[in-house]
Amino acid sequence: MCGAARGHPRAVMEKDPMMPTALRSESHLAGTTIAVRPSTNFVKTPAIQNLANRSLGYLREGFPVHFRGPAGSGKTTLAFHVAAQLGRPVVFLIGDEEMTTSNLVGGQYGYQYRKVVDRYVHTVLKYEEGATRSWSDHRLTTACREGCTLVYDEFTRSRAEANNVLLGVLEERILVLPVPNQNESYIKVHPEFRAIFTSNPQEYSGVHDAQDALSDRMIMLDVDYFDRDTELAIAASRSRLSESSVAPIVDLVRGYRASGEYDQAPTLRTSIMIARMVSAQKLRTSTAEPRFVQICMDLLGPRTAFSSRSADQRQQQSKMLMSLIAHHCSGREAGDEGTAERLGPEAEPAAAMNQQSGSHVRINRMQAKEARRRGDGTRQGTS
Ligand SMILES: Nc1ncnc2c1ncn2[C@@H]1O[C@H](COP(=O)(O)OP(=O)(O)O)[C@@H](O)[C@H]1O
Ligand SMILES: [Mg+2]
Repeated sequence: MCGAARGHPRAVMEKDPMMPTALRSESHLAGTTIAVRPSTNFVKTPAIQNLANRSLGYLREGFPVHFRGPAGSGKTTLAFHVAAQLGRPVVFLIGDEEMTTSNLVGGQYGYQYRKVVDRYVHTVLKYEEGATRSWSDHRLTTACREGCTLVYDEFTRSRAEANNVLLGVLEERILVLPVPNQNESYIKVHPEFRAIFTSNPQEYSGVHDAQDALSDRMIMLDVDYFDRDTELAIAASRSRLSESSVAPIVDLVRGYRASGEYDQAPTLRTSIMIARMVSAQKLRTSTAEPRFVQICMDLLGPRTAFSSRSADQRQQQSKMLMSLIAHHCSGREAGDEGTAERLGPEAEPAAAMNQQSGSHVRINRMQAKEARRRGDGTRQGTS
């Protein structure tokens, strides 16, 4: 068994403490499980702490927990953080359309050959030959046998048929093997086995509805986009910049998200990426810094679907983004006006837009409305 009784190895030092660390190779679970430990980089605001404590309470009581929320709302990070508090090795799975029950549980793979040559009576020579199929445990089976914490990320990406095997695991605490192993058709789930699931209800491509029977066995906790203070704290921690330095970036991304003028919502992950580029290249978060503006355009621009928009609409979108960048990252340094020319026509600041009102959201919505009235098909955001 894993854990103290089997001398479960401690995690090795982590390079990026947010990332789970692989087990040392001498462990019998190496390659299948991940050792996680509480990360010093994990940002705990009261809202996050509250969610973590609630989920830990349910998990300790033996209930599976399901974090449901949009992309970039911190579900996977929270799942690993909570798993680390449980102190058991983690089995990590990511939902996949191609996932089958056998992928989760295991199956008969290959043969084991046996040959016996018997010369017990020297005048008699006896040969015996045989082959048996050999069974191989996959990750869910390892987690159930060894009492690991299962983190099943984006589990609704797997088809319901593949996930059916979890019904018995979560309720009766019995894993039914799809193909009987030599002597066993069932495995009794280890008392310390726990399960944490995540899913994104806004995702519409490549996901399936969670079956009622499975959802009914989990405690569902909704995780929404973080509040501004939490996003500031996380973006600062992940980029090693100060909160005041990342504030324009976070406000820009949040402003864009609030505008609804995108096809794919810009998330905290985008803020972190911009902040990390700013930190690595020692840039000012200002419109006077062409490379900063270019990074913002690179990371935020493609959030609208390229194919569905005409060149005119794309230019409008670039102007809207430039206007948001100017609003949140003006920095008020001299030379701001020259930035657009240095970046070319796509990045031209939307000087014509009504900067005085300070409400880009209103302006963008009005523009979108006007475009729709004209019938040029500008699409509203999806979330
Ligand atoms: N509490 C936190 N502390 C530090 N970083 C966090 C925290 N929550 C989320 N992050 C970071 O925010 C980004 C998005 O989080 P993630 O867990 O991947 O979101 P999701 O799984 O909902 O898409 C990641 O880069 C992650 O490292
Ligand atoms: Mg995730």
